[in-house]
Amino acid sequence: MAYQEKQLQDISRHFQIYGEIQHAETFKIGHINETYSATYDQGGTRVRYIHQKINKGVFKNPVAVMRNVMRVTTHIRRKLEASNAPDLTRRSLIVIPTRDGKSHYVGRDGEFWRTFLFVEGTQTFEAVQTPTQAFQAGRAFGEFQSLLADLPGGRLHETIPAFHDTRRRFMALQQAIHKDHYNRARNARPEIEFALGRASIVGVILDAMAKGKIPERITHNDTKFNNVMLDSATGKAMCVVDLDTVMPGCALYDFGDMIRTTTSPTLEDERDLAKVKMQIPTFKKLAEGYLSTAGNFLNNTEKSLMAFSGKLITFEIGIRFLTDFLSGDNYFRIHRPDHNLDRCRTQFKLVESIEQQERAMQKFVDGL
Ligand SMILES: Nc1ncnc2c1ncn2[C@@H]1O[C@H](COP(=O)(O)OP(=O)(O)OP(=O)(O)O)[C@@H](O)[C@H]1O
Ligand SMILES: [Mg+2]
Repeated sequence: MAYQEKQLQDISRHFQIYGEIQHAETFKIGHINETYSATYDQGGTRVRYIHQKINKGVFKNPVAVMRNVMRVTTHIRRKLEASNAPDLTRRSLIVIPTRDGKSHYVGRDGEFWRTFLFVEGTQTFEAVQTPTQAFQAGRAFGEFQSLLADLPGGRLHETIPAFHDTRRRFMALQQAIHKDHYNRARNARPEIEFALGRASIVGVILDAMAKGKIPERITHNDTKFNNVMLDSATGKAMCVVDLDTVMPGCALYDFGDMIRTTTSPTLEDERDLAKVKMQIPTFKKLAEGYLSTAGNFLNNTEKSLMAFSGKLITFEIGIRFLTDFLSGDNYFRIHRPDHNLDRCRTQFKLVESIEQQERAMQKFVDGL
């Protein structure tokens, strides 16, 4: 249920915002958060803010989430300041504290709210429309990781534990197949075979991390294109948003998920599998953009697995959809029967398409 204007104004009043509130309205009810905007008159100038309700179902420890967000945004801001970067207030989210100096406000209904300065003059898009946009996406998330490479103060909180534990995800699938509680395995034979046939890729990145060949880094973990704010006039990436899943991880997970979400011109649940295809021109721009900002800190093992990471992350999401289908659709909300099976098929088709082009993809990366 979206909040009414009066309720939003009440919430807004708890933050350190000066001036008179003019109106407050729903901005976007996303998959995870509820986002609202509030417009103020400050000395005759209109200034906007974002109020966001944190999803407590997904993030069990919202206080720790906000501690991460504060550390990350403060550090990025300091670094940009130190490098004399222009347009500072549009280059990173700015958290507006509550009147009593906290990073969040807990409403009467127990909900957690945080407030950001509205990043004006920017646009987000649900899907990448041009290879140039893919370049911007890669550049933005690469820069984000790069700015956080020297974050002081110890490890960030893991806001969703074992988020990319591919081995555990694979074991969960094996269990779901074994139990077959809903007698659905018979409808997913080819997909089950596809998944089990690829057991060898499951541990590749985890093993490289365990051996110390790939370091743990700070990663964004939700590198969808709609989390990149692009300047409306120039089309250049200004900043990335949606920082709730920023936590320790592998840089390649971010890049792999960018491959998954940007290189096929289709939606996650496209039923016409003939349309699902990894497009190499988009991949090339994505890799160029990413390496333009992340190239200076990635090691050779990470670089050598860039194409592979797209395959692995797409496979991982595919097996999660398949597991959920077999276990009765408990995790991913479905909008039609077999929706999770359709989503799984789309992912697996993309995995296949990446497999067919993986060598060419990696060859291109190696030449950059
Ligand atoms: N500070 C901001 N200034 C302007 N717009 C913002 C700001 N923060 C978020 N937005 C807009 O609100 C949208 C949703 O925010 P966010 O990604 O944090 O929520 P979400 O629930 O994860 O959404 P989704 O499910 O679409 O990923 C963003 O895509 C962006 O367009
Ligand atoms: Mg988002």
